[in-house]
Amino acid sequence: MKSTYSMPTRVHFGEGVIDRLPLLPVVSSAQSIALCIGGSSLRASGHFNQIQSLLIGKSIALADGVPAEPPLSLLISLSEAWKKSKPDCIIAVGGGSVLDIAKAAAFWAMQYETVPSDLSKLPVNPMSPIPLVAVPTTSGTGSEVTPFSVFWDKEAGRNQSMHHTLLYPADALLDPVLTYSMPPEVTASTGMDAFTQASEAYWNKNANPVSDDYALMAIARILPALPRAVAHGQDAAARSNMLLGSLQAGLAFSNTRTTACHSISYPMTLHFHVAHGQAVGITLPEVLLLNAEVQPERVARYCTALGAADMKDAVEKIRSMMRASGLATKLSELGIKTDDDIERIVKGGFTPSRMGNTPYEFSPDTLRQLLKRIL
Ligand SMILES: [Fe+2]
Repeated sequence: MKSTYSMPTRVHFGEGVIDRLPLLPVVSSAQSIALCIGGSSLRASGHFNQIQSLLIGKSIALADGVPAEPPLSLLISLSEAWKKSKPDCIIAVGGGSVLDIAKAAAFWAMQYETVPSDLSKLPVNPMSPIPLVAVPTTSGTGSEVTPFSVFWDKEAGRNQSMHHTLLYPADALLDPVLTYSMPPEVTASTGMDAFTQASEAYWNKNANPVSDDYALMAIARILPALPRAVAHGQDAAARSNMLLGSLQAGLAFSNTRTTACHSISYPMTLHFHVAHGQAVGITLPEVLLLNAEVQPERVARYCTALGAADMKDAVEKIRSMMRASGLATKLSELGIKTDDDIERIVKGGFTPSRMGNTPYEFSPDTLRQLLKRIL
């Protein structure tokens, strides 16, 4: 089988690697820098001051307060601001929402066109984006090495994804120390996102041998590390393994996209406010079992990577990891209880660009049955 794997982002990894920030060529050559961050947690951890001190001598414009599940309106205002100020470089420090919006705004700030209401309508020959350094402070989304950004319209009850190779950051700087202060529930949810993204990259119709190996390394690394990182936030080995596992999951699904678990998760987040990683993870064991019907040999290799004797054992290992991390394994634990609730998820659960990558062919009825099995 012939295949192509591509990854243009330079990846820097290790405890204390944040100190390299001013040495990166896109930063050292910049006079003006836009620093994009989320809420107050970066300031409370002391890392905001640390990053500012690393950038002394540069002209810094701060874009802060990026919320979880950012709306399209924020992408429009941020890209317009950067279109006017034209910073030489953007540094995004935060979780997936911060990285996603900074990547997309760095792109749109350089285009003649304005941000469209439909993010699948991209310029035919886009200009290069403002160079961006992505510094994740969670271990989950892998956004530092992906060409995707996701935006939410909660009033209209929908989300949409932007996908372009120009969204890959120039540099990804992954320092596990920046994740130490992440609260247990955020560690659990974001870590489950990484585990699920790796799983979905593996059984994906777009999988290739390179993405396969990254995916299997990621699940083997995350399985023991996640409960430990949740229980012991200062455990250096657990935090390092989670950030590396999340990176490997990102390297895998950057080239494959996701599958049914992500597709089914979006109405759970939109209508029931379920955290993204929890929402994608809750259907993972059932989607694994269905995919095993279609591709038993490939899924057997997935079970081996988990150290599982068979499929039943693999499902139990995943559910044990979730329970040990404080994650729900039943929909009723998340307030999803009635037939009407199930129907809302079935109705919104088919995103073709996700569902279509799943080897098992879902129908509304097979999705309904799956959800009832985990009620
Ligand atoms: Fe995800």
